[in-house]
Amino acid sequence: MPEFNNERTSPVELSPDDFRKAGYKVVDRIASFLDSLPSKPVSPEITRDELQKIIGIQSLPNRGESTEKILEQAADLLFKYTTFNGHPKFWGYITSSAAPIGALGDLLAASVNPNVGAWNLSPVATEIEAQTIRWIAEMIGYRTDCGGLMVSGGNMANFIGFLTARKAKAKWDIRKEGLAGSKAHSLLVYASKETHTWIQKAVDLFGLGTDSIRWISVDEKQKILIDELESKIKADKENGQHPFMVVGNAGTVSTGAIDPLNKMYEICKENDLWLHVDGAYGAFAAAIPDAPDDLKALKFADSIALDPHKWLYVPLEAGCILVQNPSFLIDAFSYHPAYYNFITEEEGSSINYYEFGFQNSRGFRALKVWLSLKQAGVDGYKKMIADDINLSKHLYKILDSNPNLEVLSQSLSITTFRFIPPDIDANSNKVSSYLNDLNEKLLHQLNEGGEAFVSNAVIEEKFVLRACIVNFRTTIEDIEMLPELVTEIGIEIDSKIRPVDLKSNK
Ligand SMILES: Cc1ncc(COP(=O)(O)O)c(C=O)c1O
Repeated sequence: MPEFNNERTSPVELSPDDFRKAGYKVVDRIASFLDSLPSKPVSPEITRDELQKIIGIQSLPNRGESTEKILEQAADLLFKYTTFNGHPKFWGYITSSAAPIGALGDLLAASVNPNVGAWNLSPVATEIEAQTIRWIAEMIGYRTDCGGLMVSGGNMANFIGFLTARKAKAKWDIRKEGLAGSKAHSLLVYASKETHTWIQKAVDLFGLGTDSIRWISVDEKQKILIDELESKIKADKENGQHPFMVVGNAGTVSTGAIDPLNKMYEICKENDLWLHVDGAYGAFAAAIPDAPDDLKALKFADSIALDPHKWLYVPLEAGCILVQNPSFLIDAFSYHPAYYNFITEEEGSSINYYEFGFQNSRGFRALKVWLSLKQAGVDGYKKMIADDINLSKHLYKILDSNPNLEVLSQSLSITTFRFIPPDIDANSNKVSSYLNDLNEKLLHQLNEGGEAFVSNAVIEEKFVLRACIVNFRTTIEDIEMLPELVTEIGIEIDSKIRPVDLKSNK
């Protein structure tokens, strides 16, 4: 039996003084990092090989090192070798700049470390999460007595919407009998071809298979075709299949298109289908006064996925699912194992988030969302979101006035465009594939250059660049440099790679 005394030393413990010293240093370095962001390249110029050499190949250390030294080392690495989505000229994917209060919120949450799986383990954290859910619902015009919880991101939020719908609409006990209970009737889900890939992952991972998706075509604005949706549902019902869910997009991932949610709601009502809205990107824009009616119609959805780590500018990770009727969440996820002795909702006024979703132990990611909402207020958010959209519209205008660029779309805060050399006929087949190649290379060179960062979309087989502004640091000056930069790089690459038979056929 080893000997113990009352003076236990643990290598992970920090005395309050040491914590204060190390913490102040880290905070000082973060403040300088934030200050230096605009003058840094957006992305680091480094290869994987080089970075692996810097990190080193030494094996797991046997002995610990000084806290201050390893924090210094981590800060050095992070502040140098990262693609900075907080940079004012980062417009890639749908990844926002992060509100600094979120970093402080995460520090606070991790320091206290409440387990927000059950009320007993986290009384105040649970109530703050519940209030955050109500505030998010209120912000987008949804019922504030809805159910909901924080999750890691848009995929997970959509998965929860999907599983809740499946349980609510299956006509047998799917949690007990599984999919085998469906006999010959396939459960079917309807979504536009522009829907994010979470839908494939959901049907695949949860056993329906990708054939259970009825892909619906889109119009020239990338919105779902209502007539096709309606006729496919009708045909499937007549064939004895089991449609259960329609997915509407409140801001598609490629172009920010908003599906006609009003009409989709009518169709769902008529056919007893669950309307789930993927608002991971666009749902928060429903808060601004001039939001289109179709976006505001997300209030009719049975469930909505949203991403505070997108348009609430909360640091990763923060996703959220709202479900109109909270009891459907419990129906889909709750178990009461003997080793959990928590007061259930039925027994008293309590809320245990482990009953609402995938996780048992849960971190306090709601805190950074709650703090951000309190810091900016809904007016602050309306202004930041509207500014992003207006900047995107301005970007559309200045790209459109450049004779070397073709602009394909602008919706919410996404603008898509491509470079077309002025002496080339963009409509011939050969040229189409050359333009795709040219713009893909342009994208890589632009992003590697570190002056700005965008991503891409493919629209009607055209490879296009895509700038998505979910960035409260972007100014008009930042975006005004983009058309010229893209043109410059485009001309340079074109002069190097254009095949001889495509030389000046205009
Ligand atoms: C419309 C849409 N849905 C879902 C997702 C997935 O979100 P996450 O990356 O947070 O899992 C995204 C991500 O960009 C998205 O744009």
